[in-house]
Amino acid sequence: MIARLHIGLAASVGLAITMLTGCSARLPGRPNEAERWRAPAEITDFNQLYTQNCAGCHGVGGRLGAARSLNDPLYLAFVTDDAMRQAISKGRAGTNMPAFSEQAGGHLTDQQIELIVNGMRAHWSKPDDFKGVELPRYSVDGSSTATNNDIATKAPQAGDASRGTATYKTYCSSCHGSNGDGGSEGSIVDPNFLNLVSDQGLRTTVVVGRADIGKPDWRGNVPGHPMSAQEINDVVAWLAARRQRTNVTVSKVDHSACLNMK
Ligand code: HEC
Ligand code: HEC
Repeated sequence: MIARLHIGLAASVGLAITMLTGCSARLPGRPNEAERWRAPAEITDFNQLYTQNCAGCHGVGGRLGAARSLNDPLYLAFVTDDAMRQAISKGRAGTNMPAFSEQAGGHLTDQQIELIVNGMRAHWSKPDDFKGVELPRYSVDGSSTATNNDIATKAPQAGDASRGTATYKTYCSSCHGSNGDGGSEGSIVDPNFLNLVSDQGLRTTVVVGRADIGKPDWRGNVPGHPMSAQEINDVVAWLAARRQRTNVTVSKVDHSACLNMK
């Protein structure tokens, strides 16, 4: 009995020594290879790149953030690789989407941006779900990157804002109110919102919706009645026109305030 205990004790001491000195041994608290600190440009792991750079706005795991969910297979079927690359590299001027490429003042290498684009595809795309679905084009002019990326850039006006009034009433007023400024789901013409979102950002929202917060895609506003390409262009133009008018009003107010002071 006692002899057996001693043998057992000796064995566990021996094991402990191996654990402390052996090559494969790891002291508690010592980082393993994956945890080792790396210079930012050395990081090649998609999850780490995404978590450190994107999750703050686009949500942990790509959903339920303040900015659109990126893990949505419909979004990934809609967006082109070029457009993703461009948005990540250059950001979207006038919006909260920062530029990440080193050339644009960010801190990600082109290789890391490529890793993020490929990682989003590999982790979150489900192309088979959209076989046979006729998806609207990503950009208003059909190019693979968006030409109406930046708020400051004048977008080619493929949509017609006045026609968009009727389109809005048909597809959107049930949730956002008769003029876009209310309804059960709240205002989408608030200047604080429109002045921080690009035309492409609006287009993406209209087409893809936001499944994570219960916003329908282009097929679901009026069930069984998907929006046509023209209707999508028109309603985006209608929203963009609300933004322009807001800017004019603001400058008018400022001007009259100056006159009153004289
Ligand atoms: C500070 C907040 C913020 C961070 C951080 C951020 N984004 Fe964004 N992102 C936004 C906003 C806001 C938009 C919508 C801009 C607009 O109106 O077009 C956006 C748009 C995008 C789009 C284009 C969506 C479309 O219309 O197709 C992509 C792709 C994207 N982000 C990817 C990323 C990735 C990948 C990262 C991390 C490397 C990242 N973003 C980090 C806020 C952020
Ligand atoms: C069935 C209800 C419903 C309909 C119909 C609907 N939406 Fe929405 N919409 C929502 C919900 C829910 C949200 C998320 C509100 C929130 O932020 O909590 C939303 C948000 C939005 C946003 C803001 C998205 C963001 O990035 O924060 C825009 C822009 C928008 N809708 C435009 C439209 C337009 C344009 C139409 C018509 C083509 C439309 N919606 C039709 C439910 C709807």
